[in-house]
Amino acid sequence: MKKRFLWGAATSAHQVEGGNFNNDWWEFEQSGNIADGSSSHPSCDHYRYFQQDIDNLASLGCNAYRFSIEWSRVQPDPHTFAYSEIDHYHDVLTGLLDRQIEPVLTLHHFTNPLWLAKIGGWENPSVVDSFGRYVQRMVDEYSDKVKWWVTINEPNVFLILGYLLKYWPPQKRRNFVSLFKSFKNMVAAHKLAYQIIHTGSSEAKVSIAHHMSVLDPWRDNILDHGAVKLYDWCWNQALLNKVLTHLDYIGVNYYTRQRVAFPLRLFPTPGREAGFAQWEICPEGLLRVLRRLSRHKLPLVITEFGMPQQANISAGQYLEEGIMMVRKAIAEHIDLRGFFYWSLLDNFEWREGLSYRFGLYEVNYQTQKRQIRKVGERYKKLIEDFNI
Ligand code: BGC
Repeated sequence: MKKRFLWGAATSAHQVEGGNFNNDWWEFEQSGNIADGSSSHPSCDHYRYFQQDIDNLASLGCNAYRFSIEWSRVQPDPHTFAYSEIDHYHDVLTGLLDRQIEPVLTLHHFTNPLWLAKIGGWENPSVVDSFGRYVQRMVDEYSDKVKWWVTINEPNVFLILGYLLKYWPPQKRRNFVSLFKSFKNMVAAHKLAYQIIHTGSSEAKVSIAHHMSVLDPWRDNILDHGAVKLYDWCWNQALLNKVLTHLDYIGVNYYTRQRVAFPLRLFPTPGREAGFAQWEICPEGLLRVLRRLSRHKLPLVITEFGMPQQANISAGQYLEEGIMMVRKAIAEHIDLRGFFYWSLLDNFEWREGLSYRFGLYEVNYQTQKRQIRKVGERYKKLIEDFNI
């Protein structure tokens, strides 16, 4: 039988659910850190609207949904698991399975329970056991409903924004000691989770969602080439190398290419600016990333790919070009198993707040009305035409 290619969309709990008042991001939001003054509550209230959202996902022809569990909900303090919250995610999973939608379950997507943040978060070596206990419980609960697991979303983004750039919690600047401790603990936590999930489920496919950028030198000189090598190792390769022995597939989040100038400055190529955050419009970079990852001889899943409405390219066109890369990759016999658009819904774009809109569905935050966007219609057509 032909294996099902996973066509899906992705979200993360804190960005869509609303009502996550017990984690470090909520605290950060309350201190006036969000660019447009918005917050993650109620966002698109996916916690209550999830059935409708899954219907919308299904109506696009998608057969997979990547979403995350909010750790601070299911484990509100170190000694308690909350039954009602665990049941909520049972309901989401049942809703998906009833519609023949394959869940891809992320266990950590940037937010930490407050009780963990208060004792030093990922810097504290006790996080490895804490994460293990949480994962064990999630596996006990959900392993008969879930085959595809993502342990940690984008450790590189989490660590660099949180420990070097002071942009995200825990807001440390150039704190290499904390960064390395947290890096080490994340690697250990992933490996432990990998073992726990496999012990609980022989069918499981486990990965991280690894953020990769394409990096090219700004000028063709030895210094800029050197800067690319260094930055590439730190951003794209270091963590991946550490966890490679504990991956059943590689989940990759791809958004952009950046030009690197010595010593470490990043630019988009002139004329190709996406219009924010030094992103460049470079859908073809997706193919470069897939080719590069294919040398690890593991199946690949594109766990995120997308563009917000604000960009200097329509999200629909960007998506179409991205899917062209999927076609090329498959034609080159790259073992690609799935594609997840970021995101199903407009949602809370972290420090940028609600104004960045990434959704296949537009959300009216006052009325909670969902409206399909052109990019959503385009995705539906592309999936239909792909014939895979
Ligand atoms: C993250 C998402 C985020 C998206 C768009 C990814 O790095 O996993 O949470 O919303 O990028 O910036």
